[in-house]
Amino acid sequence: MQNFVFHNPTKVIFGQDTIPLVGAETCSLGRRVLLVTGMSSAKESGIFHEVSESITGNGGTVFCLEGVMPNPTLEKVRKGIELVRRENIEVICGLGGGSVIDSAKAIGAGSVVQHDVWKFFTGKKSVRSTLPVVTVPTIAASGSEVNSGMVLTNVDTCQKFGFANRHLFPKTAIIDPKTTFTVPGNQTAYGCIDALTHIFEFYFTNKQPDATVQYHYMEGLASTLFGNCQLALDNPSDYQARANLMWSSALTLNGLCASGLGKVGFPMHLIEHSLSALYNIPHGAGLAIVGPGWMESRHKDVGDRIQQFFRITADSLYAPSGVLATLGNLRSWYASIGAPTYLEDIGVNEQDLPKIARNSQALAKVWRMREYDEQLVERILRQCLRESNGLP
Ligand code: NZQ
Ligand code: ZN
Repeated sequence: MQNFVFHNPTKVIFGQDTIPLVGAETCSLGRRVLLVTGMSSAKESGIFHEVSESITGNGGTVFCLEGVMPNPTLEKVRKGIELVRRENIEVICGLGGGSVIDSAKAIGAGSVVQHDVWKFFTGKKSVRSTLPVVTVPTIAASGSEVNSGMVLTNVDTCQKFGFANRHLFPKTAIIDPKTTFTVPGNQTAYGCIDALTHIFEFYFTNKQPDATVQYHYMEGLASTLFGNCQLALDNPSDYQARANLMWSSALTLNGLCASGLGKVGFPMHLIEHSLSALYNIPHGAGLAIVGPGWMESRHKDVGDRIQQFFRITADSLYAPSGVLATLGNLRSWYASIGAPTYLEDIGVNEQDLPKIARNSQALAKVWRMREYDEQLVERILRQCLRESNGLP
């Protein structure tokens, strides 16, 4: 195990019927509140109303930024920053999925500087302070509610970039699993795949054979995700299943998995970000395609570790005959829970691969993953084609 610093200052309030606490938590940080939400789900489920009431009931004034799209855009964040400045906003509350929460963080950091917020994403400027952010996640997926990361898409440059900075930790996350009862089946599956892929990235790219605590921790999270995904799909109002998904997904990316692992990469996310940038597909759907393809492309180096992982975490997917059979089972399970599994499923074909590989290079540079040059990315993408796998 390598030396590490673990620092996660986000206060977590977890459990059913905790939403009424949002007002007090938020208003303790400021009275003029920007409430950031997504397209429609928060209003439809009633949680938007509940959160607004809680804030006004605690003496806050609510200003709204609605309509944050999945794969949230820089343009929307710039609008949020304008609103913050115009209305002298003091605190931001992100109510929704990772897209909303990332936008809330970007607005918080972008409003306290004179330069454009995108400069943070390209690494030209670093975040030194932010307005306080409170998060209320409504889907189990990204872990953004408890971490220091944020991801935005710049539509003009066709770039989906993300990064982490210690100032971006939310002040408080209020996590009520009941808010996820309304998440549709496909989004439930994408969220689980995202959280699982965070674990794949750490488990399969690190070079620490002896990080026992971290391996056991990740295996526990992964088996929880595998099991409870199916339970939540079978019964969307299964509180325990939703609670297990919500907490385990948060724990995949709150800093604990990677602590002590030394250098880890995020190659599946690197390639997925280009798919989302170019084709605007959901993050988890892209990972369902890229994850197995990346693992297949590395099976000679990390095949034993992949087999060990699936034998421990997902007995029904583990194939004693070999790693490629196990990964085939993983793809079949992804398909069974409603995710695409090959590039063709999202309308991408062989002739598109060079463009995607080229798109990944700017982020590879920012993330210091230069070994993922165009040729390597293209080879991995080829592994994600149904045609290359000899399938009809
Ligand atoms: O927009 P609304 O109407 O709210 O609908 C959303 C959206 O269509 C819906 N949804 C969310 N909660 C719901 C619900 N529908 C019904 N009931 C509810 N309770 O779900 C859809 C997807 O929402 P989105 O926020 O896009 O999903 P997710 O949480 O998976 O976030 C994805 C974004 O997070 C980034 C991804 O790249 C992507 O942009 N990530 C952020 C990370 C971070 N900050 O640390 C790390 C991740 O690896 C990831 O890259
Ligand atoms: Zn992710």
